[in-house]
Amino acid sequence: MTHSSLLHELDHPLVHYHMTVLRDCQSSGEQFRNQIDRLATFLAIEATRDLTLTPQTVQTPIGPADGHMLAPSIALIPILRAGLGLVNPVLGMIPQAQVYHLGMYRDERTAEPVEYYCKLPENRAADIAMVVDPMLATGGSIRSAIATLKRWGTNDIRVLSVLAAPEGIAAVQAEFPDTKIYVCKIDKQLDSRKFIVPGLGDAGDRMFNTSKA
Ligand code: PRP
Repeated sequence: MTHSSLLHELDHPLVHYHMTVLRDCQSSGEQFRNQIDRLATFLAIEATRDLTLTPQTVQTPIGPADGHMLAPSIALIPILRAGLGLVNPVLGMIPQAQVYHLGMYRDERTAEPVEYYCKLPENRAADIAMVVDPMLATGGSIRSAIATLKRWGTNDIRVLSVLAAPEGIAAVQAEFPDTKIYVCKIDKQLDSRKFIVPGLGDAGDRMFNTSKA
């Protein structure tokens, strides 16, 4: 794994604190969702730091003020299911983003991604696509999403993930070296079942109260 200008691991006391509460298996589904929401806001701020602006004047109650609007069109791509938890906080920061869902799950036996939903509008690719998924484990789901978005016609692709494994980041970088990756934390490794260690368990199940145990 290369730590390059394209790979951003957040370093902020509030991120470290909220990650700890997120990981804690004592945290309820409601707490888990709240933590994802807070951490996604940090990811949105970091992943938009270099956006271009166009000048725009607005009238305040006192008079005209010079301001700015966001120049690029931005698509927000949540990977179902767990990516849904990042939609509202990111959309809160970029209210005009178009949201297109990608349905993907990881086959529990092979750990390979299976795509089951994709409805991107033809011939209307966004300038920037921000893929949101709380977990980047083997990177299979994200790589499949990036391939889909490249075929759609977007070249500026940004991955926003709460937690990642070094193996998954390396796999994304190897296949798509121009992808920008924003993560709150890069953990140690994957275990034999391809789970992130120490990780946080299954994000989708914790988010939607569907854990089997
Ligand atoms: C999890 C997670 C990612 C994927 C990460 O989803 O939310 O989408 O696995 O693993 P990868 O990097 O090895 O592909 P899961 O398959 O559990 O589906 P869900 O969100 O519907 O629960």
